[in-house]
Amino acid sequence: MQDKKFDTQAVHFSTHRESEVASKVQPIYQTTAYSFKDLEDIEGYYSGNKPFLYSRLDNPNNDDLATGVARLEGAPSGAATSSGLSAILCAVLAAAQQGDHIVACDDLYGGTYHLFGSELKSFGIDVTFVSFADQKSIQEAIRPNTKILYSESITNPLLRVEDISGLVEMARKNNVISMIDNTFATPYLIRPYVQGVNVVIHSATKYIAGHSDVTAGIVAGDQDIVQRAKEKMANLGCNLGPFDAWLAGRGLKTLSVRMERQVKNAAALAQFMKSQQAIKKVYYPESASAKGNGAIVTVELDEKADIEAFFRHLSWVKLVATLAGVETSVSYPLGTSHRNMPDELIKQHGITKHVVRISVGIEEIEDIQDAFSAALNHSM
Ligand SMILES: Cc1ncc(COP(=O)(O)O)c(C=O)c1O
Repeated sequence: MQDKKFDTQAVHFSTHRESEVASKVQPIYQTTAYSFKDLEDIEGYYSGNKPFLYSRLDNPNNDDLATGVARLEGAPSGAATSSGLSAILCAVLAAAQQGDHIVACDDLYGGTYHLFGSELKSFGIDVTFVSFADQKSIQEAIRPNTKILYSESITNPLLRVEDISGLVEMARKNNVISMIDNTFATPYLIRPYVQGVNVVIHSATKYIAGHSDVTAGIVAGDQDIVQRAKEKMANLGCNLGPFDAWLAGRGLKTLSVRMERQVKNAAALAQFMKSQQAIKKVYYPESASAKGNGAIVTVELDEKADIEAFFRHLSWVKLVATLAGVETSVSYPLGTSHRNMPDELIKQHGITKHVVRISVGIEEIEDIQDAFSAALNHSM
């Protein structure tokens, strides 16, 4: 390139060839497309001999992330998408189409509830929400056109642990696809695919990435459905950017060590909360998995507690509309994640104006307890 003119040299400044650079970690493939030697080489992509063509379809960073999570889930195939919600959409559209029906649990994350109850209508897909705590109501809701049974392994925000084997059995008996959002549990605690679920979904924005700096989603599961979900992702433009995939992949490496610490802290905090005068109820699962019960603790403050004062006095614990970072944080389901759920469901599930969801981080447990103790004292 040295013999070329100024502008050409500027554009073609890079001298390192990828094949010559043995970087220790996977580089970020911040590229929209891949180059080919000739037309025959391009044909190689379509015949399956070349992995990458265009980053909306696939990218090495996305591929690594998707495969990495799928392996941890014990699933043969994975796809990485732009968010947890787009992962849910692509997975659902891979298994259901116009005229089909889904049976979903009625204590879903609010965003999923909205996607199912409102947006899927424009795709001609109907959803019935029922309590999955009751197998009979699931069976009664299944119709001849039902294609999917959908639930969360640990529900948001009240932490009901799904009976996954029961769900798998019900799905198999009725010849429908089972899907589980495993965001709260992660494969560190629960592996729904290994238990027979067809498709596992993640908001990788949460524990998979773990540092609250990336929005991403994962669909992992049966090869054919994941392949169709990947096609939906590409055709609807729900792909993840390479840098975000790289960030999520970097987080994935420490999933176990983060979860181990966060789960231990959460168990201790749940116990501590039970002894607090300002706390009416503590939601924390009892037997979610052999490795513990998750890193989210949901509490209901006493009716007499001033919830505003509680949030205002949390010192370093931030009030946010997310969870699962290494920092302890709190969120307010009624005002954020479950804001658009119908009032009767909100009431039925007990998501009152005193319910607070705590995402427990990796800090020292004594500091976490002190922060909540101070805020609770200010609330009474
Ligand atoms: C259980 C669960 N599933 C899905 C989502 C949606 O994920 P995202 O925000 O990455 O689209 C969330 C978001 O909070 C969630 O809590």
